[in-house]
Amino acid sequence: MRTPLLVANWKMNKQIAEAQAFAEDFLPRVQGVKDVEIVICPPFTALEAVRRSLQGSLVKLGAQDVFWEEKGAYTGEVSPSMLLDAGCSYVIIGHSERRQILGERDVDINRKLKAALEGGLTPILCVGETLQERENNRALEIVKGQINEDLQGLRLEEPNLVVAYEPVWAIGTGVNASPDDAQEMIGFIRSLLARNLGKTLADEICILYGGSVKPENTAQFMAEADVDGALVGGASLQAESMARIVRFKEP
Ligand code: 13P
Repeated sequence: MRTPLLVANWKMNKQIAEAQAFAEDFLPRVQGVKDVEIVICPPFTALEAVRRSLQGSLVKLGAQDVFWEEKGAYTGEVSPSMLLDAGCSYVIIGHSERRQILGERDVDINRKLKAALEGGLTPILCVGETLQERENNRALEIVKGQINEDLQGLRLEEPNLVVAYEPVWAIGTGVNASPDDAQEMIGFIRSLLARNLGKTLADEICILYGGSVKPENTAQFMAEADVDGALVGGASLQAESMARIVRFKEP
């Protein structure tokens, strides 16, 4: 049984006071919601404030990136144990913005995944094709390449990995993938996970859809057999809309 997982990726948004205000507004709105897992991924600078605000709630904390080394001369980087120490249980790895703007490669993502897992964090691995790749009918091939390279040599004992399918053309555009297209790709990703990690684990790993998710379309995605949750950008910045996304089961 895979528990629905709703993840807020705030990206480079919210100062500390705004992050605290979000948490104060959000927690009462999701009070009593059962059988879902909620994760908030603030920028590094707001992790501590959000951790404090979330204390005593079931909402989990995540970071938006991690480095693969444990410590040392790596200016600007943050290690898995530092994130754990800061109260994180999840970390987003390989987001398309990092792949595209910061030149992150699959080999880097592979090292980050291994380090995060070794450090006791649950990675949320992001994959997805660009518009051009989709138009050239290469979406499946691109995502297959990403999954296979990112998971290279990875051994898992438990299903402590999350994958997010985020087609680049759907991110921040207001144009979401159709639930059918999301299901097709996410079903395909599950088959790739089965090949890489074994079918038992693949059946237990949560796979999310991301890209212009909003309160109005969440339930449609969640109705698909292999879609286990959502990775939400823009609509996660307001407590009201993120809470409605979390409450997707309610009419
Ligand atoms: P939007 O929800 O703003 O499209 O962003 C999606 C995303 O990139 C989440 O990681």
